[in-house]
Amino acid sequence: MKKIFERKIEKLKNYYIGILIISTFIIVLSLGWNIYNESQHYKNAALEHAKNSFIKNIMFRDWVASHGGVYVFPTKRTPPNPYLFHVKDRDLITTGGKKLTLMNPSYTIRQLMEEHKGMYGAKGHITSLKLLNPKNKPNNWEKKALKIFEKGKKKELYEFLSKDGEEYVFYMKALSTKQSCLKCHEHQGFKLGDTKSGIFISIPMKKYYDDMYSAIYDIITIYLIFYIIGIACLIYIYKNLKASLLRQEKLIEENRKKDEIMLAQSRHAAMGEMISMIAHQWRQPIAVIAMWANNIVADVDMDEMNSKNFKDYADNIVNQTKHLSSTIDDFRNFFKPNKEKENIVLKDIMEECLAVVNKSLENNNIQVEKNYKSQNKIKIHSRELVQVYINLIKNAKDALIENNIKNAKITINIYEDNDNIITEIRDNAKGIDEDIILKIFEPYFTTKSVQSGTGLGLYISKIIVEKHLHGIIGVDNINNGACFTILLPKENK
Ligand SMILES: Nc1ncnc2c1ncn2[C@@H]1O[C@H](COP(=O)(O)OP(=O)(O)OP(=O)(O)O)[C@@H](O)[C@H]1O
Ligand SMILES: [Mg+2]
Repeated sequence: MKKIFERKIEKLKNYYIGILIISTFIIVLSLGWNIYNESQHYKNAALEHAKNSFIKNIMFRDWVASHGGVYVFPTKRTPPNPYLFHVKDRDLITTGGKKLTLMNPSYTIRQLMEEHKGMYGAKGHITSLKLLNPKNKPNNWEKKALKIFEKGKKKELYEFLSKDGEEYVFYMKALSTKQSCLKCHEHQGFKLGDTKSGIFISIPMKKYYDDMYSAIYDIITIYLIFYIIGIACLIYIYKNLKASLLRQEKLIEENRKKDEIMLAQSRHAAMGEMISMIAHQWRQPIAVIAMWANNIVADVDMDEMNSKNFKDYADNIVNQTKHLSSTIDDFRNFFKPNKEKENIVLKDIMEECLAVVNKSLENNNIQVEKNYKSQNKIKIHSRELVQVYINLIKNAKDALIENNIKNAKITINIYEDNDNIITEIRDNAKGIDEDIILKIFEPYFTTKSVQSGTGLGLYISKIIVEKHLHGIIGVDNINNGACFTILLPKENK
């Protein structure tokens, strides 16, 4: 009993550990997915920043290029560009006598991006594999990108990498040579539509990563809170279930003890019944013994003693005592508790019962009809079945006597179907009132007086058949009488 309970608790525990592992796995997976999405989101935002910066640069470059460059007053910061020496009108003098010098797109962009220390953190410049100004020389990453663009494989390239201990997104997009570019670059061999140069943008990732880590920290905190709440709920449910299992188990144990007490009570009642049946069985042989003893006394009185007569008397008396002693053996066997299951034919158990009760049935003019159609053995605790059979036969006898039935008869059928061996005990005592038929298996239900019935017989019979023998017991009113049916499985699973 204890083991079954421990197994139940173990099963429950394993079940909850399983739930915990699976939910932890799902939560970790979902957390990982969220963290990945969040990091992608911030990386995409940085990339978007780089692309926007590129667009601004290109617009500015296009604007400068569309004007064929712009003229500014030459200063220390913006001296005449030595790399534009080949451009005819690089330097001009206004009508007022002021000097102007030409700034081409890359000159303006370089000044804008580098000298203004980048736009909103973005840095960049125009670069090319064919340089006009060595200051625009590409670094290794840019060279790699430019080579890819030159081959026409891709028009843009980006990469998240770290440089000098700082994280960056490097972005580069190819520039295709337009008519307006040729003014300054035609002499380098640039042709219309070439992709020999590009604009490089680098965005420091620190701000993005800081924001990303703080968002990830928030996500982890929320997950952790929900996870802890979930685990607390799981533990609470588990503890509650365990407690309710414990209560249930206690109740089952109490019921089992109650049943055991009832079983003992019913056994005592059956024993009382048996003793009264033995009294019936003994009445006749004792009368016969008394008769032969009287014969001896009469022979002595009449002085007619002879050894032959004495021997006959003694033989008869011995025969009767043998009968008495066999009745006592029957009784002893009857209540001898058998611990081991035995392979037995149901007919034999029934015959054993009838041997004990038949005198009492005979005395009440109750006829017994037997139809045994099953010879199969079944492995059971036979003494328990004896108790059931006796209960049912006694009930039938009580009903037949109470209803004063003429031609009182108990019919016993034992037969089998595919799975079960079936015992039917029928009587012709008018059957059981429909109002009470559903209650007769309840404990302490009886229609008899306190002295003649405890109301436990059928309750105990049901427990024995259904819980101990793993069968089924039922009742029906058939042919003006009650018919109790017991199904016992052939294979005791
Ligand atoms: N064959 C039957 N015919 C009619 N009524 C029956 C029959 N068997 C049982 N009953 C009814 O079912 C009731 C319950 O039977 P049960 O054997 O449980 O208790 P009991 O016979 O009253 O008392 P005991 O504990 O001494 O057996 C009986 O009191 C009786 O009314
Ligand atoms: Mg009874």
